[in-house]
Amino acid sequence: MLNISELEAYYGGSRILNQINMKVKKGQVACILGRNGVGKTTLLKSIMGLVKTPRGSILLEEKEMMKVPTYHRAMEGIGYVPQGREIFPQLTIHENLLLGLERSKNKGELEEDVYELFPVLKSMLKRKGGDLSGGQQQQLAIARALISKPKILLLDEPTEGIQPSIIQDIGKVIQQLKKQGNMTIIIVEQYLEFVLGIADYFFVMDKGKIVMEGNIKEADPKEIQSKMMI
Ligand SMILES: Nc1ncnc2c1ncn2[C@@H]1O[C@H](COP(=O)(O)OP(=O)(O)O)[C@@H](O)[C@H]1O
Ligand SMILES: [Mg+2]
Repeated sequence: MLNISELEAYYGGSRILNQINMKVKKGQVACILGRNGVGKTTLLKSIMGLVKTPRGSILLEEKEMMKVPTYHRAMEGIGYVPQGREIFPQLTIHENLLLGLERSKNKGELEEDVYELFPVLKSMLKRKGGDLSGGQQQQLAIARALISKPKILLLDEPTEGIQPSIIQDIGKVIQQLKKQGNMTIIIVEQYLEFVLGIADYFFVMDKGKIVMEGNIKEADPKEIQSKMMI
């Protein structure tokens, strides 16, 4: 579904990603693990076309994305929830959600199923994004990405700085999306316990490379943890 090969990414003259090879199957939940600064966010940004990627290939359902501008990648079905959420604090929740439609081929009305996943948002549509708690902002950011009905959803550290009860809610949402079966999900995380319960496949990154990968069920969490600590 997503097939990345020999990918390199740069900020200015410094190479951040080196020879990334990565395959994610349709309907799979894959996670990318690794310490701070190993290049996880840069990899998601590369998939979205937000950083310089002079070499390599990113195929989305056989279609080459490398030369496709970010806006069109979103239209092709890549949904992105950035690290730190980046919702608009001055806009209402409803307005924040409408922005999700802008980047989508699905130009209709907001659909009720988003509120089914996040009932708390429905009761707060007129409130400002900035009035929400961190956990609610994360839910809003995920809802905004889902509104465009992406084929693949990229989540960058969805549990970062969020209280445990909301982390559980977010975990449940990901499991519900997985059950529906047609969405592929990539989660960047440092919180191993969280992804052990929801992901099918994992990648561990270090210094801009993938240093370990496999099926979550067949892996030893201790071994994953030790690779993350190098
Ligand atoms: N905008 C930027 N300009 C220059 N260097 C950056 C920028 N963003 C990140 N980096 C560097 O790229 C490396 C990888 O960062 P990042 O992808 O954010 O890592 P992670 O998400 O795994 O914490 C780090 O060394 C970081 O300092
Ligand atoms: Mg990051």
